[in-house]
Parts: sequence; structure tokens; C-alpha cells
Amino acid sequence: MKELQEKAVKVLEKNWKNGFSIPCEGLYPFQWNWDSGFIAIGLAHVDMEKAIQEMETLLDAQWENGFIPHIIFHTETDSYFPGADFHCSHLHPSASKKYKSTGMTQPPVAGFALHKLYTISKDSKNTLLKIAPLLDKVYKNHQYFYNHRDIHNEGLVYIYHNWESGTDNSPLWDDIFSTMQSPEFTFERRDTTHVDASQRPSKKEYDHYLNIIEIAKEHNYSDEKIAELSPFLVQDPLFNTMLIKSNESLIKMYKILGNNEEKIQQLETWQQKSIQSFNKKLFNEELGAYIHYDLRNNTPLNHISSSSFTPLYAGIPSKERALILLKTMIEKFGNDHQYLCASFDPTSERYNPKKYWRGPVWINVNWIIYNGLKKYGFSVVAERVKNDSLALVEKYGFYEYFDARKNEETTGYGGNNFSWTAALLIDMLNNH
Ligand code: DGY
Repeated sequence: MKELQEKAVKVLEKNWKNGFSIPCEGLYPFQWNWDSGFIAIGLAHVDMEKAIQEMETLLDAQWENGFIPHIIFHTETDSYFPGADFHCSHLHPSASKKYKSTGMTQPPVAGFALHKLYTISKDSKNTLLKIAPLLDKVYKNHQYFYNHRDIHNEGLVYIYHNWESGTDNSPLWDDIFSTMQSPEFTFERRDTTHVDASQRPSKKEYDHYLNIIEIAKEHNYSDEKIAELSPFLVQDPLFNTMLIKSNESLIKMYKILGNNEEKIQQLETWQQKSIQSFNKKLFNEELGAYIHYDLRNNTPLNHISSSSFTPLYAGIPSKERALILLKTMIEKFGNDHQYLCASFDPTSERYNPKKYWRGPVWINVNWIIYNGLKKYGFSVVAERVKNDSLALVEKYGFYEYFDARKNEETTGYGGNNFSWTAALLIDMLNNH
């Protein structure tokens, strides 16, 4: 295991670009929002200065209205599509003047990532001093979410693009895309020059992805217009779990800092409402799992994905409901021929064990589920998720995602020497 950790550290060293990390060489040449949070957690074990810088750089790209973009285009390169020239973040009046970015966000991991930095630190006083100004930025980001993306005042925020979910091409979105008539765009894909096309989203899917962005751009990325017009508008359990977990982390950190009563009160109010609505609206009794809700078409998306189990991490389910989740996970995702945890229901006909978020195992979601299971005292299954993660990386390398089936075909897919795979492996190896 020492050797594996050394390899992981090398991956992070290679992907470090003077102030931030790229997810991997070639396929993803810029800074990604939730990648940075996970990467910082891994870096914290080996180089706290870099971990803090990773978060500082991400938050330096925050917009005046509190929004934090999903990609920050630090460099000019035409090896990625769609790049800065397609996204045109400057259309939004509050956009950063310093950085070009996308006009969409990603699961809000910054709050709990900062708290992890503090708990991992061997010099917590000093770390606290450095991250204190960052906490206020994250707080402002949560204000943005609750003020602009909770249209029915439920405590549940929406995402307006599948790329905001992080689970980019999940079969969940098929239901929504089937309601859309997207034009055929002419463009040159770059991802499929780095990775085999069978492991990436289809052209048709990219047409939908670009179409949603074009609609947002027509209205200068106005939240109000997006809420009114975007064909994609979803309450995502993974996204909202990250927000709720980050609320909790901010509360903890502000209590340690002191003199932040008002913010703590506001966070607690959000927190209570969010958890209550989450349990009321996003749980499907029949499936025994949390599900997504399609706000645009006013209908639940009744499918089980790895996102369905992530609410454990933020302590959202009752003990009783957590047991139901555990049962669903073992029955559908966890037979002896499968690694935990496939990204989509392996018993569904939409499952594809090779294609990106349509089935493969992802180490970041495994890390979330592992920590969630531990929180509820489900230590046997927690250990299994951890050991499956370690085994996949040890056998196949630091890949972006892995085939969930245990057989001779099993292998890693997507980008290699992938930062969050390395970072979260380091965290799991050092988590006692
Ligand atoms: C991609 O290019 O596939 C990215 O994951 C989008 O965030």
C-alpha cells in the first residue's frame, strides 16, 4: 500500500500546474470545480500549502454574485471542446473579469473540502487562519444557491445542465433529452481524440448539451430566465447532498472561529429545510432509494444511480431509511460479480459498464458512499467499498472510471493518471 500511495503522490505532482491541478493530461487541461475540492483533500495529506492554494485558485474565480464556475480556463488551448469561446461567461454581468470560465457550476464540494483540510492538518491553527477568508466565499456561494436556484422555496436547489450534476451522461437524463428537439451542431469533438468513443457520450448527447448552453447564453446566463426556459431543470440528490454536507461543514468551522452567529443561524435554517424537503420529495419508497426530480416536466426520475446512495454522507436519511438504502445497494449493485458501486443500476437495460456515467465505478462517488456508510455504522459494506476502490486502482491503474463487472474484461477507462482517483485513494489509505 505504501507503493500505491507513492504512485498516487506522483500523479498529483504531475498534474499540478502552478496553483491548481488539472484532472488529467490531454482530456481535461483546465481546472474543474468539484475535481479541485477532491484533489485538495488528497493534497492535504502530503502538501498542505498546495491543498490550500488549490482551493484559493478555485475561489478566486468566483463571480460577484457568489457563483463558482465548473471549469476555469486558465490557459488557451484548442485541445478541449467546448472551450472558453463557446461558453462566453462574460455574457453574465457578474462574471469574473480575471478568468474565463463556463456559465454553469458543479456539485458544491468546497465547504466540506475546506473542513477536511482543517481536520487533516497537523497545524490546525495555521490552517484555520488561511482558510477563514475562503469560508466566507463558500458561504456567499451557498447564498447564491438558495437565493437564485430554489424557485419554489423548498430548500432544494436546481441544476440546469447535466454537466452541473457531475454525472454527465447518466441514463437519468435520457428521459429529459427525449423531450428536447435539439438542432444538430457542427463541431469537432476533442474528447474522442484522447479516449475511445465507446467510453464517451454520443454526438446526439453533445447536441443536447450544447443546445442547453445556447439557450442560457441567449439570456446572458440569467438565473431567472434559465429557471423559466431551460429544457433541463433538475433537483439532483447528489448535488443537494454536497450542498447540505458543505452547510454542515461551514457551521462547524464558523463555530470554531467564533463571532459568526448570524451566518450560523442562516446556515442552520437552510439546513433544516433542505433535509426535510429532501426526505419528503426525493425518496421513492417503492425503489427504496433517493431519486432525481425533473422540475421542468414536473415528474420524478424513477431510476437508481450511485447518486441515490450519497445522502448517507450528509446524514440525510433516518437510521431506518439508511437500512433500506443499504439493502437496495446490496441487492441491485452488490452481488459477488460486481465491484461496488456502479454509477447506474446494473439491473436496468440502460446500464452500460464501459460508458462514462452509464455504469462504471467512479472513485469520487465511492469515497462519498464509503464515508456515508461509515457514518451510519455500516462498517462491513463501507470496508467493501473502500477495498473495491483500492483493488481497482491497484490492478488497473489511476483511471478516471472502471468497469464494475468482476471478470477478465474488467479494466480502467477514460483518462489515466486521473487526479481525484489518486487524491481520494490517498485519503482512504490514511483514514483510520
Ligand atoms: C467533459 O468534458 O466531459 C467534462 O466532464 C464536462 O465537465
